[in-house]
Amino acid sequence: MAPLLRRGETYFSHAPCSCQTRLMFQIGPYHIESKVILAPMAGVTDRPFRQLCRQLGAGMVVSEMVTSNSELWGTRKSSLRLDHTGEAEPIAVQIAGGDPEMMAEAARLNVANGAQIIDINMGCPAKKVCKKAAGSALLKDELLVADILRSVVAAVDVPVTLKFRTGWSIEERNALRIARIAEDTGIRALALHGRTRACGFSGEAEYDTIAAVVQSVKIPVFCNGDIDSAHKAKAVLERTQAAAVMIGRAAQGRPWIFREIEHYLNTGTELPEPSLHEVRDILTSHLRELYRFYGEFMGPRIARKHTSWYLQTVPNSDAFRREFNALETAQAQDDSVQVFFEQLIQREEKAA
Ligand SMILES: Cc1cc2nc3c(=O)[nH]c(=O)nc-3n(C[C@H](O)[C@H](O)[C@H](O)COP(=O)(O)O)c2cc1C
Repeated sequence: MAPLLRRGETYFSHAPCSCQTRLMFQIGPYHIESKVILAPMAGVTDRPFRQLCRQLGAGMVVSEMVTSNSELWGTRKSSLRLDHTGEAEPIAVQIAGGDPEMMAEAARLNVANGAQIIDINMGCPAKKVCKKAAGSALLKDELLVADILRSVVAAVDVPVTLKFRTGWSIEERNALRIARIAEDTGIRALALHGRTRACGFSGEAEYDTIAAVVQSVKIPVFCNGDIDSAHKAKAVLERTQAAAVMIGRAAQGRPWIFREIEHYLNTGTELPEPSLHEVRDILTSHLRELYRFYGEFMGPRIARKHTSWYLQTVPNSDAFRREFNALETAQAQDDSVQVFFEQLIQREEKAA
């Protein structure tokens, strides 16, 4: 039986990812060695989660978005978002806003703070940042899009990338024009979510527009939206010829999805599902990093949503989820996870 983790130990000192490393594509000077990327998700892709996903096979991860209004960076939430201590290269930071000058300044400040790639958010449905249109709301105004991209590219020496949706609405799908504007202004890679702004998260992502964008530009394009398995990732890559897939919600509580996809793309065979031992060890390590990063008060609160996501893959865990969510301290949560998994493992061993 795998040994339990002691305090301070991480899962990865026991089991490094066995994915093959191959040069897959390049963003500026950075060689990205996997075709599987973690999507930025505010409130989810914090530093502990990004590091976990990298260790489990993600070729690149992108921070949660940082508002372009640097006056707001003094809050605890922002300062945690700006903390990249110990992160593997390339450190990609996403900025959001609708004012070209503020975006340029935000890019400069983030580079000074360690960002090696600046990603511009024109993909999230948030209507406004600082009372100006931001995120995918910008897609309607192509002149403003060009202004923002130009001023951010001119402001920094690092590669700038763009994340966007296929358009403002199904009737106004302008992804091809936005992609060409981006390439012309010096953007080095594109991440494209196969939905329009008006779609929100409803319906299914479509990949035909992404395939058309791939054909129309020379820079790498990452295909994003509803990719939740190795089979789907392979099919979508074949269909779109994109440089990589970008995974968002399917990584919540399943960070091993990166190595599953990477392995399948490299070998054509599927990795087995992680054992209960391994799920316990990954979850334990993740929670301990959250406690360290956020501290004794915020850590256990943030741990609840992640634990709920992990438990979705664990049968008969509803009662434990309720019990866990009522626990207030890191120690109590940690202990309860160990006891819960020990019982499950014993039950499984008896049944075998
Ligand atoms: C909770 C949550 C937060 C998100 N935050 C951001 C964000 O900060 N920046 C961004 O560009 N997209 C954000 N997104 C969109 C995702 O990056 C991604 O484009 C979307 O979830 C579709 O990919 P998926 O189907 O793999 O989840 C967010 C999505 C979710 C679910």
